[in-house]
Amino acid sequence: MAKKATVHYICSDCGANHSKWAGQCLDCKAWNTIVEFKESASRAGAASAMARGYAGSKESVSKLSAIKPEDSPRFSTNNVEFDRVLGGGIVPGSVILLAGTPGAGKSTLTTQVLCEVSSNLNCLLVSAEESASQISRRAIRLKLQTDDLNVAIETDVLAILSMITETNAKFVVIDSLQAMYHPDVQGAPGGVGQLRECMQVLTQHAKQNDVAMIIICHTTKDGSVAGPRVVEHIGDVMLMIEVVAASRFREIRAAKNRFGSTSELGLLAMMPDNGYLKAVTNPSAIFLDRSRDAKPGSMVASLWEGSRSLLVEIQALVIDSHQGNPRRLAVGIDQNRLNMLVAVLVRHADLAMYDQELYVNLVGGLRSTDPSTDLPVVLAMVSSFRDRAIPQNWVAFGELGLSGDVRAVPSGLERIKQAAQQGFSHCICPKGNLPKNISTDMKVYPVETLSQAIDRINEHS
Ligand code: TYD
Ligand code: MG
Repeated sequence: MAKKATVHYICSDCGANHSKWAGQCLDCKAWNTIVEFKESASRAGAASAMARGYAGSKESVSKLSAIKPEDSPRFSTNNVEFDRVLGGGIVPGSVILLAGTPGAGKSTLTTQVLCEVSSNLNCLLVSAEESASQISRRAIRLKLQTDDLNVAIETDVLAILSMITETNAKFVVIDSLQAMYHPDVQGAPGGVGQLRECMQVLTQHAKQNDVAMIIICHTTKDGSVAGPRVVEHIGDVMLMIEVVAASRFREIRAAKNRFGSTSELGLLAMMPDNGYLKAVTNPSAIFLDRSRDAKPGSMVASLWEGSRSLLVEIQALVIDSHQGNPRRLAVGIDQNRLNMLVAVLVRHADLAMYDQELYVNLVGGLRSTDPSTDLPVVLAMVSSFRDRAIPQNWVAFGELGLSGDVRAVPSGLERIKQAAQQGFSHCICPKGNLPKNISTDMKVYPVETLSQAIDRINEHS
């Protein structure tokens, strides 16, 4: 008996699976994004196996201790920041989705990586978005070594698979998934059905032939094409590349990573002359401007991003409000957290801020959810409220409890060391983070409560 096709209803925005059609996706609340998707029973099984990371049909039960992990050394992308978010380079046979808005630098970054890797490894760039001469022009503009890189312009995934086999490529970039189509699947390229089928076929080939792939996927705000979340579960790694606050900097984060942490942040700078994406080796330097005089309302925070600390200036502006409900605005930190910090300040530092307008900004367009920003945010607000500048060589970190206590945060010693390296000489930190012995010249002020931290600042500002 022929196997019946399974019908799914999938949101083309967020990829959520629904048992029946509805006008609004219950997961992401988007309207008119749910589409019907027919999957044959055999394909459905293959898809779920693929989602679990299996390539073949061979399944047997064995003791975990008897299984020897395959020795598959990663290869570097020659870009330290890209390697960092990947978890230390690319694992052979892995499928990496690289998502981002148009102009974020997906094609630039992948072309760079391909050209740099292609002298050691057979590489193939498949583009459906640009012509061969456009790709060549970009490579020349970026001053890349193009001798060993194979390039093809193709949209049919089956033809791409034969090209991979023909060229014996071990590292392939597909630009982009939304432009690909599978001849056996109905629907236009970019639709949910095509996207899933193409992704599955490519992933299967990657696993079976040990080919590493970066598959570029667009994100669009208007939802005109299905997004990367529809196929996220099939790939091993999903990276997002974003422009940092309309600047020349780009941040890469992993939304999913089977081979590394998802908390790493990679920073790239686009060179103004030719658009080359260069790894930012000292990120603190781009978020700090220490050339100007110290101003009231500014404090440097030591954030923790993945496996390193980042020094970022926090600015606060506190002004008298003439409204019954004064405005409080947080940019870069959570709004609710700011409201909580104001409540803690009013209650435990006896500062009458309830009738003040408040604006807090993490300079440089960065966003952070690290609770260690609590203490520097509060100190910046106190500095603005009292109109007294905190000296520029001071840094702070620590989480605030509702009872006004300053709580320890992870990696205290590394944060202090990094700040000392950047030329900071005074640090206010939670008592629980006080290092036993510190080999730097940093003057560390351990504090247990918010009022102790404010006292330290008052003594020096
Ligand atoms: P690209 O890799 O094409 O973006 P994506 O593939 O993600 O859509 O990168 C486009 C960026 O390159 C864009 O931000 C502008 C920059 N750029 C230059 O800096 N110089 C140039 O000559 C060109 C054509 C683009
Ligand atoms: Mg592109």
